[in-house]
Amino acid sequence: MAQQQTKIVVLGGINMDLVTYSPRFPQPGETVVGSSFITYAGGKGANQAVAVARMGADSKMVGRVGGDMFGPQLLEGMTAAGVDVSGVGTNQEVSSGIAVIGVDDTAQNCITQVLGANDTCGPAEAQAVKNALSGASFLLLQLEVSIQLSLEVARAAKAQGVEVMLDPGPVRPVPDESFALCDVITPNETEAQALVGFPVTDEESAAQAASQLLERGVGLVVVKLGAQGAYYANSEERGMVRPFDIEAVDSVAAGDAFNGALAVSLAEGAALERAVTFASAAGALAVTQSGAQDSMPRRAQVEALVRDQRP
Ligand code: RIB
Repeated sequence: MAQQQTKIVVLGGINMDLVTYSPRFPQPGETVVGSSFITYAGGKGANQAVAVARMGADSKMVGRVGGDMFGPQLLEGMTAAGVDVSGVGTNQEVSSGIAVIGVDDTAQNCITQVLGANDTCGPAEAQAVKNALSGASFLLLQLEVSIQLSLEVARAAKAQGVEVMLDPGPVRPVPDESFALCDVITPNETEAQALVGFPVTDEESAAQAASQLLERGVGLVVVKLGAQGAYYANSEERGMVRPFDIEAVDSVAAGDAFNGALAVSLAEGAALERAVTFASAAGALAVTQSGAQDSMPRRAQVEALVRDQRP
């Protein structure tokens, strides 16, 4: 009998990223001369949808682009990557989501974001998600569309037995009721600190943050610690996945590659530690390339890195 294809639904932000590369970030009031500027397709939701497609799963994107020249480009890019964009609408009245991103010589990034069309997602997108949930394993959410909309579709997903994974970025208020709706939450250090109220900088503080989030009702917590690796905990097991050894170029969207790969791996039934290792390899490979959607690795590359460094 033919194996059923893994299906993942993503509701979230679709952005055009305007990116400068400079030796370091400017201080307030300072101008730093950069080395290059590029424009690439991004947005946490769209990046995750592309990551899912590159892992070989069916990827369905729901969201909105704006009435500017970026809208059609963003739709074409996702389609070319194998993402089903039939759930993506256009709001002619506003700009597409925009992220102005600085990348420094250490491959760190800082982002100023204008939500634009993403912030106008509402009942039409709620319905599009609900229509898409049948047969899906996961619904992936982030915080680039309204949290009320995300809560509504998370409830619908839970009611149908579809698991909910929340990437709580960018940092925005998250209502308490959200946590019990999250089968998986995947904060980075900054996002984890915003959720728990103390600095999350290493394995020990990540473990404390994970415990607090589990108590609030989350099923599985995975704290993305960047170059230190990833800490995971659910009610039965905990552990740390060491980072992969790679040459860092641009960390933008590494977390999105991580989430797409984690969802696919968990949906395929991988053991938890193996799934977090697979996701960490995907995130690491994204850091070796410039770009957001363009830097999402292919499955064969992820499998090869895991084979090479975690035989
Ligand atoms: O997670 C990376 C993404 O965050 C970028 O592509 C940018 O669009 C911002 O949304």
